[in-house]
Amino acid sequence: MGKLTGRTALISGGASGIGRAIAQLFLEEGCQVVVSDINAESLESVTKELGEYGEVAGVAGDVRSMQDAGRMVETAITRFGKLDVLVCNAGITSVMPIMELTEQEWDAVLTTNVKGMFTLVKHAVPHMIAQGGGKIVTLGSEMGIVAVPESPAYNASKGAVIMFTKSIAVDLIQHNIRVNSLCPGITRTPLLQAEVDNSLDPEKTAAEQASWAPIMRVADPREIAQGALFLAGDDSSFAVGSSLVLDGGFTAK
Ligand SMILES: NC(=O)c1ccc[n+]([C@@H]2O[C@H](COP(=O)([O-])OP(=O)(O)OC[C@H]3O[C@@H](n4cnc5c(N)ncnc54)[C@H](O)[C@@H]3O)[C@@H](O)[C@H]2O)c1
Repeated sequence: MGKLTGRTALISGGASGIGRAIAQLFLEEGCQVVVSDINAESLESVTKELGEYGEVAGVAGDVRSMQDAGRMVETAITRFGKLDVLVCNAGITSVMPIMELTEQEWDAVLTTNVKGMFTLVKHAVPHMIAQGGGKIVTLGSEMGIVAVPESPAYNASKGAVIMFTKSIAVDLIQHNIRVNSLCPGITRTPLLQAEVDNSLDPEKTAAEQASWAPIMRVADPREIAQGALFLAGDDSSFAVGSSLVLDGGFTAK
């Protein structure tokens, strides 16, 4: 019997990196999983690969759109009859000092990382209340806790995620919905690579990643997925509005 046997989860941004690792671990633990992603092509191939581990459905869409978020939630309801766990994982990064940061990049980061959670939560909560409860896991970051150079948009977005999580957690616990934030440190995913590729000094950014945390390595996405499993399952029964930091010691430094 798995830790999520008989449950249904929706994972946004599930076609890559941490979201994909969470989807696989949840399937291994007996969960039925809906993965959503804006990248329809990767979503299709990842959904096929994940099929090896259990019952999975893919839905393409943009978490910034209320309508698309509604389709994601409805896919869980129509395909599996309920939604027990929502993992708001989709996010984009930004390494750009304030002097270079454009309004367009600011809007893209804040809209994806923050509004992209609001849209899913808005659609998921009525179902969870009707069912008698649920769990919501949001992806924060160590960078929602401490500021790092050249990251005002990303720092602001992840700080907002952590406070959004706490705020809805205190409102929703009366409905038996537990909301918590998972705050990874540096993790080996395509998003990390994008940070290198899009930075003003890619070599410098790559070197900084390698020696970022006291543990002197980056995390494997599976190590972060274990945190999502804890927050989505019954083992975290007293966690409400908490931020689970898995960062190799970065914020302890
Ligand atoms: N990788 C890290 O070091 C790290 C550290 C801390 C927090 N995080 C957070 O973890 C989450 C996952 O990051 P990752 O490293 O796996 O990234 P990733 O780029 O590998 O995966 C993110 C996925 O989200 C999807 N996505 C992006 N915008 C979307 C949108 N508007 N609608 C739907 N899907 C969208 C992408 O297509 C992609 O498949 C993010 O919220 C990120 O901020 C990552």
